[in-house]
Amino acid sequence: MKGIATINFKGGVGKTTITWLLAKYAAEKMGKRVLVIDTDAQMSLTLAVQLQEETGKLRNKFEDWYENKHKARHKTLLDALEAYDQNRKGYFDFPIDSSFIYQMSPNLHFVPSVVDLYWLELEIFDKEKTKSFASALLGKIEHSRFNYDYVFFDSPPNFTALSYSVLSCASLLLIPINPDVFAARGVKLLIDGLQRRIDPWPVPKIAVFMNKAKLYRGQLTRESQRYWEETKDSCKEEKRAGVHVFPIDSYIPERVDIKRAIPEQYFPDNYTEEFSGLWSGIERILR
Ligand SMILES: Nc1ncnc2c1ncn2[C@@H]1O[C@H](COP(=O)(O)OP(=O)(O)OP(=O)(O)O)[C@@H](O)[C@H]1O
Ligand SMILES: [Mg+2]
Repeated sequence: MKGIATINFKGGVGKTTITWLLAKYAAEKMGKRVLVIDTDAQMSLTLAVQLQEETGKLRNKFEDWYENKHKARHKTLLDALEAYDQNRKGYFDFPIDSSFIYQMSPNLHFVPSVVDLYWLELEIFDKEKTKSFASALLGKIEHSRFNYDYVFFDSPPNFTALSYSVLSCASLLLIPINPDVFAARGVKLLIDGLQRRIDPWPVPKIAVFMNKAKLYRGQLTRESQRYWEETKDSCKEEKRAGVHVFPIDSYIPERVDIKRAIPEQYFPDNYTEEFSGLWSGIERILR
């Protein structure tokens, strides 16, 4: 089982969109067993999933599950964190079952976020202990009956003790960048910042790719190409400094079909090739 955390401290680059669509691709097109965990207190993914199919069954089913089973029975990510924080004897007592995990489709499962994760920023939990929470949770998930191949984490644009715990135990950090003048510099700042933040752990393998790529007649615009080349140069520099960072040339274009995919609950089939390229790149790096 491999953990993949999508990160960028920059907002709006497509962390949530890519995490969800890539997870959907791996689960529904590649037949992998996939869990997605929303660790963002903004709850973008959770709300988007909840808003799917205005009148359909999935939304009602999810809402019902979320309000009555998940929240009311204290089985949210925050409850898991609380259970982990409170145990003093090294025993993490929290059930990994369908009261914690929602099964969206046979291979695609989901743990929603709760707005109360904002409490993390007030540091009501033991910060040092929280730093090993994701690793303990992954351990429990690995030994559960679910048998996942991949666990994806959607991360907030800010850095909390929970982010620390996710980033320090993931097998791969996935960094989406956008084609703009800040891309190359942003990657360098992000990786340098990460190194400092997750010390003393080593930085895991990192994959960098371009989201919202601009196309003209089916080809990358010169501008997008230039920003990508600059980003790859930044990656090379980081690699020389010992960071295992790999740029993936497959990009995801900026398209309305992709923008609507989460709220309207579909996979953007016109872009299967792009997601396939990105997924192959990720699997290659993880091997
Ligand atoms: N490839 C794409 N094509 C078109 N629109 C996209 C694409 N990727 C993301 N978007 C849109 O860009 C906006 C920001 O995307 P998203 O919420 O995934 O970013 P984020 O990095 O998770 O943001 P935050 O930092 O707030 O968590 C959304 O409106 C989303 O629909
Ligand atoms: Mg997001």
